Amino acid sequence: MSRQILILPGDGIGPEIMAQAERILASVNDSFALDLVSVHDLVGGSAIDAHGEPLSAATLALAQESDAVLLGAVGGPKWDKVDMALRPERGLLGLRAGLNLFGNLRPAILYPQLADASSLKPELVAGLDLLIVRELTGGIYFGQPRGVRINAQGDREGFNTYIYNETEIRRIGRQAFVAAQKRGKKLCSVDKANVLEATVLWRDVMIELSAEYPDVELSHMYVDNAAMQLVRAPKQFDVMVTGNMFGDILSDCAAMLTGSIGMLPSASLDANGKGMYEPIHGSAPDIAGQGIANPLATILSVAMMLRYSLSAEAAALAIEAAVGQVLDQGLRTADIYSVGTERVSTSQMGDAVLAALQA
Ligand code: NAD
Ligand code: IPM
Ligand code: MN
Repeated sequence: MSRQILILPGDGIGPEIMAQAERILASVNDSFALDLVSVHDLVGGSAIDAHGEPLSAATLALAQESDAVLLGAVGGPKWDKVDMALRPERGLLGLRAGLNLFGNLRPAILYPQLADASSLKPELVAGLDLLIVRELTGGIYFGQPRGVRINAQGDREGFNTYIYNETEIRRIGRQAFVAAQKRGKKLCSVDKANVLEATVLWRDVMIELSAEYPDVELSHMYVDNAAMQLVRAPKQFDVMVTGNMFGDILSDCAAMLTGSIGMLPSASLDANGKGMYEPIHGSAPDIAGQGIANPLATILSVAMMLRYSLSAEAAALAIEAAVGQVLDQGLRTADIYSVGTERVSTSQMGDAVLAALQA
């Protein structure tokens, strides 16, 4: 029976990188006889322009009835002045919440060919393979109350609520422990338990859970130290688990260790393996329309989609191997370019991955 993939290119470089990812998806769909059918829709700024809202009920329903969702990126200066509740980013948050995608896997793996592109010295990042497990549907991103109000002194004040209940902490904790069991069996929980009560509970629940996973070594780190340790000695980490906002920040930081934010894919999963897949980067308005964005994070997100939602591990491995081959050939988009390599455009990078896949 055929399975349905909802493709949401989004804004800025979203459509440029998605065009390449779709060529790769179409290729493995044929060669591995996956019987996948793609449907397309709008999200973010493009949906605001078309329907006046960043995520229509119809698009959310389409996402809910699809087997997986592949998303480019949303947002851009054109929509920066629209009301907060209608911003492009709300489309993305609405999909995450509406699909109950509480578990966000953000692997940061250094391709050895890109050691020169990393912002750290090659010896600090050689062999880097860490996984950030980010809670995605709770915390300060969704906590109530939130808003901007006038206080008793007549001042405007903005407020958000950092809140986690133990059910939310436990389910992301379990996902992280299980991920660690399948890897290096080390889990570092990142919090701010020296200041924030919500993260005192976070730490307590992680400790309670650890009794069920005796083979995993659990440690704890404050988020400020974790940011520092990521750029000091990133290879000390295997799996990191953290809340929504800390995970957002730490994953951009980890991305740069691998050479570029244009290299990092992600999977956002519900409790049953249904997922949405997207690069961790945004719509990159500064380079949109120039045909120079790196499509590899999105192409690698296709591999994650095949692995986690479509039981197509062989096809996922083939895509990852093809990306490795293209890097071996010395082909680089501008963001990962270094002297001695060959600079290519977004579509040339897509051509090369496709050729490597079909070789
Ligand atoms: P960004 O990730 O879009 O860009 C940060 C920097 O990284 C820019 O210099 C950009 O050119 C570069 N970059 C990002 N992706 C790249 C790629 N594939 N190839 C080469 N270079 C790349 O972050 P930002 O500038 O803070 O945000 C821009 C817009 O994107 C905002 O509207 C923001 O809300 C949105 N955003 C969306 C998502 C998403 O859809 N998941 C994620 C982050 C930011
Ligand atoms: C990401 C992005 C989003 C987030 C924004 C665009 C809502 O930065 O996917 O990392 O903060 O989660
Ligand atoms: Mn982010």
